[in-house]
Amino acid sequence: MAAITIDFQLFFILILLWLLSRFCLSAFFSFKKPKDIKLPPSPPSLPVIGHLHLFRSALCHKSLKNLSSKYGPLLHLRAFNIPIVVVSSGSMVNEVLRNHGLNFASRQSGSVFEESLFCGVSGFTSAPYGEYWRFMKKLLVTKLLGAHSLDRTRLIREEEVKTFRAILFDKAVKKEAVEVEKEMMKLTNNSICMMIMGKRCSGENGEAERIRELVTKTIGLMKKIVIAITVGKLLKKVGISLFEKEFMQVSRSFDEIIEKILVEHEENPKKDEDKDMMDVLLEVCADENAEFKITRNHIKSLLVELFLGGTDTSAQVTQWAMAELINHPEILKKLRQEIDSVVGKTRFIQETDLPNLPYLQAVIKEALRVHTPSPILARNSMEGCNIGGFYIAKNTTVIINTYAVMRDPNSWEEPDKFQPERFMVAPQNGKEEMREQQGFNYIPFGSGRRACPGSNLGYIFTGLAIGTMVQGFNWSVDGGKVNTEETGDTMLRMAHPLMCTPVARIDPSANP
Ligand code: HEM
Repeated sequence: MAAITIDFQLFFILILLWLLSRFCLSAFFSFKKPKDIKLPPSPPSLPVIGHLHLFRSALCHKSLKNLSSKYGPLLHLRAFNIPIVVVSSGSMVNEVLRNHGLNFASRQSGSVFEESLFCGVSGFTSAPYGEYWRFMKKLLVTKLLGAHSLDRTRLIREEEVKTFRAILFDKAVKKEAVEVEKEMMKLTNNSICMMIMGKRCSGENGEAERIRELVTKTIGLMKKIVIAITVGKLLKKVGISLFEKEFMQVSRSFDEIIEKILVEHEENPKKDEDKDMMDVLLEVCADENAEFKITRNHIKSLLVELFLGGTDTSAQVTQWAMAELINHPEILKKLRQEIDSVVGKTRFIQETDLPNLPYLQAVIKEALRVHTPSPILARNSMEGCNIGGFYIAKNTTVIINTYAVMRDPNSWEEPDKFQPERFMVAPQNGKEEMREQQGFNYIPFGSGRRACPGSNLGYIFTGLAIGTMVQGFNWSVDGGKVNTEETGDTMLRMAHPLMCTPVARIDPSANP
């Protein structure tokens, strides 16, 4: 059957899905509860589509959290005949990601559009737990995002922070408000582009700037990507190809640009110390003795995923942290005192200062807890298993509601309050004890085998940006208070992006 391509408003798509599914799908698939098996509690569902409507709402992590408060930390839902289990407490996360870690080490297979550079067969993030994924993960944690390579690329980020700082000083002179998310995206995008391929995104330089546009466009497609991954395969069976045209267009544009830069890299090989991520990956690709033979498409997919995973997340955390600091002057004052006493006012904060600023780290951790950028994580069960006394069947999509876990009143005192002090090690507690206690209740970077390999870089970006903004400037917002209303689905965002005006409190010509 010829594939039908649909790319209009989500609402109409869901209506269409509902109608089509009534006439077609229910004839072929019906959800039956296996006999003698205890499934997790399930709230009432709609005919045919089941609980699909719950995922349509913006802030679905909040509605799922409310359902969990009523039905318990494990929920059994379904979208058509696709079973979905929602996990909402630290102890259940511990069961899923530690006790049954291997069983949940894969995500829902994303190869709805096999050719696409994101969610395609060559992707790392969507790859099942297997030989390819393990090879790439090792490469990421050793050669691409490991301590040594972060150290080697430190100067790149310091250059970009210099530009960021100059923009803030300029805004201060002009008494203009700063759009924090926008400036932060420039900082992270430029840094990642330089680390990956030795090009900045700013200025008239075509390719890197195009990449930034494509990253923004893809981030805007995230909800559609999740829908396509969840129900796309099922709908393909009846000839419906969700969002294919839109995804493939973006993927082809990424492909074109990255291919051009790959060729440039091949034609101009660099010396060891000057190598960027692209050089390293090309070298691995050409290595006949490598444990796994990666292809050009593997390289392209991984790079797209690094552009996507590494930019928006840190920008969102920085924006939320600054909003909370402006709304809590006493916390801002304490943080500033720490920076002034450790770094002083005669030089600007640097990456090497970050380990000596525990309160700054606590502020970032608390921003990641209260406003986690990824409120929902998805995994897939490779085999049937028992979790918390309930059965989870093979091939079930498991959604971990990180938002609910990190605001669970059973694990966190006053969970909705912004209190960085909770991350300062109390004198009577050792660091280990503290880590143990937080365990699976604190998962802004996920956990287990599929945890984020870029967490150290994420802490560096946010630490440098927040440190620079707090050390160098006083901040004011219209009305005196920031509106911290949330929006977003796959990525938690500020409904009213932060606009705040800087007043310099440090000499712009300070060293370095
Ligand atoms: C504050 C910043 C960041 C946050 C909050 C964040 C959060 C996350 C989360 C929640 C996951 C899913 C983990 C899971 O399923 O258990 C993830 C995965 C991932 N992140 Fe990050 N991330 C950040 C920064 C970065 C950076 C800077 C990079 C790289 C440049 C990166 C690359 C990735 C990749 C490649 C994955 C997929 C891992 C896999 O499937 O094995 N992230 N991140």
